[in-house]
Amino acid sequence: MKNKSVGIIGIGSYVPEHEMTNKDLEKLVNTNDEWIVERTGIKSRRIAADGEATSDMAVFAAQKALNDAGVAAEEIDLVIVATATPDMSFPSTACLVQERIGAKHAAAFDLTAGCSGFVYGFITGSQFIQSGLYKKVLVIGAETLSRILDWTDRNTCVLFGDGAGAAVLGEVEEGYGLLGSELGADGHGGELLKLPAGGSRIPASHSTVDQRQHYVSMSGNEVFKFAIKIMGSAALKALERAGLTRSDVDVLVPHQANIRIIQSAAKRLKVPLEKVVINLDKYGNTSAASIPIALDEAFHSGAIKQGNVVVLVGFGAGLTWASAVIKWNKGDHTIG
Ligand code: UT7
Repeated sequence: MKNKSVGIIGIGSYVPEHEMTNKDLEKLVNTNDEWIVERTGIKSRRIAADGEATSDMAVFAAQKALNDAGVAAEEIDLVIVATATPDMSFPSTACLVQERIGAKHAAAFDLTAGCSGFVYGFITGSQFIQSGLYKKVLVIGAETLSRILDWTDRNTCVLFGDGAGAAVLGEVEEGYGLLGSELGADGHGGELLKLPAGGSRIPASHSTVDQRQHYVSMSGNEVFKFAIKIMGSAALKALERAGLTRSDVDVLVPHQANIRIIQSAAKRLKVPLEKVVINLDKYGNTSAASIPIALDEAFHSGAIKQGNVVVLVGFGAGLTWASAVIKWNKGDHTIG
């Protein structure tokens, strides 16, 4: 039996209200607006309110995506939440979301692939629909990174922000939706970006707290070099699998980590910057939420049109990378 075509039939996102600017950060650590803008492109980021957790943001984004798709929560067969900052180790954040939105017929699990998580989730969720097992899958990227940042470490705290983005996947007309993908991992790079304590290797203790081991630890330079190499090659592999070339790309939606990484990926792909979705100036790096938030803003602002070839590409902790090529279908070419 032929695989079904799968596309994004609804998309939505949410960012917390509280905005933290570079000027605000100047009061916390020895940094300045000029350095942050020049080295990263970030001007501002959103920070979750006290008591606001990853599942809360995921629910808001999910509800918007469901409304956008015109799909009821009861129709969802599977909820995948990509996150590195779940509400707690278990139950999964996906189960918390499943209950809150009323997706009572859905299976649910979390997926950990760092900032590549949403694209990993998109490709994973698509398989269930392609095979005919499920009809509708909800994929969410959601993060509350502000809770695992060391607000005394200028190397990391200026980079990240909180937020969530969600997509409803469903069957679309042949020739539309997901055309090609690339997923990869290199565990050798695991040490470069990690949250050292709180798991089974180094359980939480007074000493782990004293040693600040419950915060993001990152070798920024090494991750930067990896990102520069992998963004272009991952997108090219996904394009090749889609039977397309870089000249076919209408819109590039890269992971929003650093403007210099985005510019280098665009250059490698020979995609002019006008075709690249960039919003990291407003939100910083929201990890697994960055691509769906950017995709949502691009689609709802009219930057992505029916029939466009849209390339998603990201990299992250693991180390991991992921790319997906979509012939944009939302609206006109949805089935069922
Ligand atoms: O989603 C995946 C997550 N991770 C990433 O995407 C990170 C990828 N890496 C990066 O984006 C960049 O490597 C950073 C933005 C993290 C750092 O930029 P860089 O150009 O690689 O700077 P650097 O680490 O080489 O640091 C240059 C200087 C250092 O000072 P010295 O040693 O030369 O005196 C840093 O201490 O800049 C200093 N520095 C800062 N200065 C002001 C580092 N952070 C700051 C800061 N404000 N916030």
